[in-house]
Amino acid sequence: MVYNIALTKGDGIGPEIVDSAVRVLEKIGKKYGHTFNFSSYLLGGCAIDATGAPLPEETVKGCLESDSVLLGAVGGPKWDSLPGNIRPEKALLGIREAMGLYTNLRPARLYPALSEECPLRRDIVKDGFDLLIVRELTGGIYFGERGYRDGRYGEEAYDTERYSRLEIERIARAAFEAARKRRGKVTSIDKANVLETSRLWRKTVHEVAADYPDVEIADMLVDNAAMQLVKNPAQFDVIVTSNMFGDILSDEASQITGSIGMLPSASLGEGRRGLYEPIHGSAPDIAGKNIANPIATILSAAMMLRYSFSLSAEAENIESAVDSVLNEGVRTADIIGSSGISPVSTVEMTDRILEKI
Ligand code: NAD
Ligand code: IPM
Ligand code: MN
Repeated sequence: MVYNIALTKGDGIGPEIVDSAVRVLEKIGKKYGHTFNFSSYLLGGCAIDATGAPLPEETVKGCLESDSVLLGAVGGPKWDSLPGNIRPEKALLGIREAMGLYTNLRPARLYPALSEECPLRRDIVKDGFDLLIVRELTGGIYFGERGYRDGRYGEEAYDTERYSRLEIERIARAAFEAARKRRGKVTSIDKANVLETSRLWRKTVHEVAADYPDVEIADMLVDNAAMQLVKNPAQFDVIVTSNMFGDILSDEASQITGSIGMLPSASLGEGRRGLYEPIHGSAPDIAGKNIANPIATILSAAMMLRYSFSLSAEAENIESAVDSVLNEGVRTADIIGSSGISPVSTVEMTDRILEKI
């Protein structure tokens, strides 16, 4: 088969980690007889520098015409003082919206080989954990009305959290469907003790739950959830939550796996086409040094094979290659912890993964 993949490498470490994932996909293509055609498009700060706009029309068109998109990361100090509507991050929101990708899957599991890198006490994670955050991606406060106005104390800014029943229903369905293929438990996280949007969220999630009597449903307030994630992460199977809560909780979940450099994601809508990206950012502090962990992006490519192209054997091959190198003690700088292992570079980590495919 031939697959056309759009690459939006972005800024900071984006180009380094996407190049790693492309090498992995090329090796998989050779091994299993698939052709992956790659076309690169500008998105984020690099697009602002080249064209003046963070999300050029050509990028949107290229992504919409592709079979799927692999994205690095966007943003950096160079563009931090630009107004909100022309910041690199705006391009990320724009492409998610333009592609209709309302479901963001962020799996977080503790690899046995990385248990020493987990900052939680050993007794808490002795049996590991394996959870999936299902984050709503095209609604909520990220997309609500915002602006500046004259307020009671002079100038004020505002952002609005907004959710429709339809948006909640479809993300809830995605979570229940995912739970059916896992351990059959959904925890819906909200702030229903304060927010009206959360009260609609909770009510709607329970209405959808009626169609999934085989799946257990529990509600949890977000402040408690942030605490429970470090108290007992193994209690969670599937977490479903709003755009902003999912953003915050997934960074927290990533660190208890050892590093944010480990967590992949898949963004999906109604069709097969998706956008795949690590959950971390452009890591300006380590950009261009060949030390970033490419695993989150490589695992995002594996998710693309599984979810967009139905190539499960190929996806598993990548995932077990990652398992093997971690079991052999190969570590980038972010996952050495106090082990005393000398870290490998981004390129060396990729080479070692390629050897296992
Ligand atoms: P970040 O995720 O870029 O970095 C946080 C910390 O984690 C840094 O110390 C960084 O070095 C480290 N880190 C991240 N990825 C790593 C990897 N693969 N290997 C090793 N270490 C890694 O978050 P930040 O510093 O808050 O944001 C930096 C920029 O990235 C900002 O402009 C932000 O808006 C943007 N951002 C973009 C995305 C995205 O494109 N999806 C996501 C988050 C943040
Ligand atoms: C993420 C990022 C983005 C988000 C930012 C950069 C817009 O933090 O993908 O987690 O908040 O969705
Ligand atoms: Mn984030």
